[in-house]
Amino acid sequence: MAKKLFIETLGCAMNVRDSEHMIAELNREEPYHLTKDAKEADLILINTCSVREKPVNKLFSEIGQFLKHKKEGAKIGICGCTASHLGEEIFKRAPEVNFVLGARNVSKIREAVAKEKFLDVNINYDESAYAFSEFRQNPYKAYINISIGCDKKCAFCIVPHTRGEEISVPHELILAEAERAAKSGAKEIFLLGQNVNNYGRRLSGGKRDEFNFSRLLTEISKIDEVKRVRFTSPHPLHMDDEFFEVFASNPKICKSMHMPLQSGSTAILKAMRRGYTKEWFLDRAKKLRAMCPQTSISTDIIVAFPGESDRDFADTMEVMEEVRFEQIYSFKYSARPLTSAANFTDKIDPEIAAQRLFALQTRHAAILDEMTPEYLGAVKEVYFEELRDGGVVAGRTSQNNTVCAKGGEELLGEIKSVKITQPQRLILYGQVI
Ligand code: 5AD
Ligand code: SF4
Repeated sequence: MAKKLFIETLGCAMNVRDSEHMIAELNREEPYHLTKDAKEADLILINTCSVREKPVNKLFSEIGQFLKHKKEGAKIGICGCTASHLGEEIFKRAPEVNFVLGARNVSKIREAVAKEKFLDVNINYDESAYAFSEFRQNPYKAYINISIGCDKKCAFCIVPHTRGEEISVPHELILAEAERAAKSGAKEIFLLGQNVNNYGRRLSGGKRDEFNFSRLLTEISKIDEVKRVRFTSPHPLHMDDEFFEVFASNPKICKSMHMPLQSGSTAILKAMRRGYTKEWFLDRAKKLRAMCPQTSISTDIIVAFPGESDRDFADTMEVMEEVRFEQIYSFKYSARPLTSAANFTDKIDPEIAAQRLFALQTRHAAILDEMTPEYLGAVKEVYFEELRDGGVVAGRTSQNNTVCAKGGEELLGEIKSVKITQPQRLILYGQVI
């Protein structure tokens, strides 16, 4: 009988892809069926995120719950960024855990499962050219890693310490994977990396790829069966005009750009070591809107970074007013071990941090309320990818809005025109026409 695998994936799209990699690698040896019930699983995996403190704190109580309810003989493995960061400490605090596998070591999952105890959290391990087996949780969309790790040294971010230095995956491997995925029905290719538009600067062994990110996008879009190309995350610093040109002119590239601002204050951006100013960011956003007006722009914002004054926060609010982001992921600053900002002494009072986050989110909700009615009556091309309850299918527009319409399986994997009849802040409801 096939073994049962329960896998919980926290964090970003990279982790989603790493979970897919692990599922595929496990299946290379023997069949595993995915289960949503940890109690019946033979193998329990938690693919962790360490970018903020809260989920890390919850990890050990969660492990405790799994240990209490798991099946006799079932194994439990902790993978991903918190595994990289805590390593051996996980065994010390939860000795029943069978293995700890870092974000940069997921290719070793079969070896980990075969041993009684296993630990590998080496952030210098190079998986950039490892031929992972393939598995897709969503057959209509193929996530493909184009680089691993991150070379930036943002003062708040733990990722370079969990995913190691940045190495690009050779373009031949990416193109071959995109081609296989598209031929097996994934019309959308979703390219992943911490810093995608820095693609090609360093291959394994220090060489450069002759492809940069713009070239990679162009080549992928030449595959006939590929209808849509998306990517995350780009860095505002590397958003040059050539990149915008390719983005704007290629109809297969989805018109949704993530531009992680983090802060609107030049002084705070400097303290964060982001490498750009408020003016640079505004200039890039303006240029993008001018070159490609239908683009929707999303962003990440951190409030209450150490030293953030009322004036600095006002700068962040100003950038939001000017750019009118279609989507914002906003966070209170959370001090992370190993990062340079963890040693900064000018911490912001938690009360003020909460007020700033509330002010930012409230104003953004109001901006969305101003923008949403404009969708009424619009016709959008929607790629349907998910069945929802009550005879509804969900998909996405090129701009990354979620659209729901009446329909069934016949719409899955199809791109259809949908007339928006009921726009809401987070979901646009419409009718297939
Ligand atoms: N505190 C708060 N938010 C953070 N992020 C990264 N590190 C931290 C931190 N220490 C946010 C950034 C990043 C997103 C993935 O998470 O906004 O873009
Ligand atoms: Fe979390 Fe960052 Fe690791 Fe993704 S790369 S799982 S966001 S810590």
